[in-house]
Amino acid sequence: MLDSYKIRKEFPMFTNKIKMQGHDLVFLDNASTTFKPKCVVDAINRYYEFETSNSHRGDYDLCYNADQKIAETRKLVAELINAKPEECIFTSGTTASINIVAYAYALNNLNKDDEILISLEEHASNTLPWFEISKKTGCRIKYVELDNEGRITLENVKKAISNKTKLIALAQVGNVLGYETDIKGIAKAAHEVGAVVSCDGAQSVPHMKVDVKDLDVDFLSFSAHKMCGPTGVGILYVKEEIMDKLDPVFVGGGNNVNFAPEANVNYLKGPEMFEAGTLNIEGIYGFNAALKFIKEIGIENITEYERNLRRYAVKRLIEVEGLTLYNETAEAGILTFNLKGVFAQDLGTYLNAKGIAVRTGQHCAKMLPIFLGTPATVRASIYFYTTKEEIDCLVETLKTGGNFLDAYFA
Ligand SMILES: Cc1ncc(COP(=O)(O)O)c(C=O)c1O
Repeated sequence: MLDSYKIRKEFPMFTNKIKMQGHDLVFLDNASTTFKPKCVVDAINRYYEFETSNSHRGDYDLCYNADQKIAETRKLVAELINAKPEECIFTSGTTASINIVAYAYALNNLNKDDEILISLEEHASNTLPWFEISKKTGCRIKYVELDNEGRITLENVKKAISNKTKLIALAQVGNVLGYETDIKGIAKAAHEVGAVVSCDGAQSVPHMKVDVKDLDVDFLSFSAHKMCGPTGVGILYVKEEIMDKLDPVFVGGGNNVNFAPEANVNYLKGPEMFEAGTLNIEGIYGFNAALKFIKEIGIENITEYERNLRRYAVKRLIEVEGLTLYNETAEAGILTFNLKGVFAQDLGTYLNAKGIAVRTGQHCAKMLPIFLGTPATVRASIYFYTTKEEIDCLVETLKTGGNFLDAYFA
């Protein structure tokens, strides 16, 4: 069983005893970003203090070392998601990855008679790129109907699929309600009509085993910073058969073999075709350390720990009078709620005053309020270093809101 207290000793944000508003910090905004263990910070510093160089095959040792580190990190990523290293592209994060799918694939393969299937609960980063593709190609955006709880069911996806469906873009785990979607079943149904699946893995890959071969997705996007890594690094997995059919989105140094005055260009094949310009090398050094850190803990142990803690959090939260929990049965460690008569942002400010960091508002899923029937919610999200005491602190603080918030139970 994973020992979150022991693990916290590896994180400077815990060992430095950070305070917020005079209270010990209780960080419950892990769906937004995660803390970084010391090994990640050290890896980034080591790059700057001892190993600085550009990558891209320079003829000196430092450059060779950077190339090796990038290749090793690509292998670690591939191992994590059961892909081949040649299928893993370094990007700046999930948003960039999904935009590459939009501009390298969808723009060239969809037309006005086609449909892209998404849902009302997608993050802006898995919505707006498709809106843009719709504007540019004339294709239609279609929405999967959510069930009563707000889940995306295979049954409803099958109902929404038609011969016009060319691309299905869904999160494996939603960032507001935290439900896990049956991406494997969806990929099978999509492939039967010749559609591809772009899976937003921002909230799944950091928390559970994601196997791209088993899921049979065509694209998978995720960010390093949501899994103990640095900001500004992400991954786009592209299935090998599709990779060769894509055109680069950004072009320049590092993604070509040669070019001539007549504008003849030979681009590199594989992931490097999408990695024009200097990569976020410090970020990749840090991501390398984060991937090893997570591997050492074991992704299955992370899932088990978080699911147990979530069950505990649900049990405690429903004790709070006047609290509406919007996702009691969800799988992921995301707890989204409101207190009766209290505006979510007021509650977030109150929790801040007590040292508790949660997210309030719409969490970048700005169409979901249409389904939830409330303009804003409070989201507490855990990671494997979150403790029961932190959940207790949240619950006890929520119970005291009545002394402070005028509208409480109004
Ligand atoms: C489901 C989902 N998709 C996409 C993103 C965007 O990730 P990034 O900001 O790292 O590009 C997020 C970030 O919160 C997310 O939760």
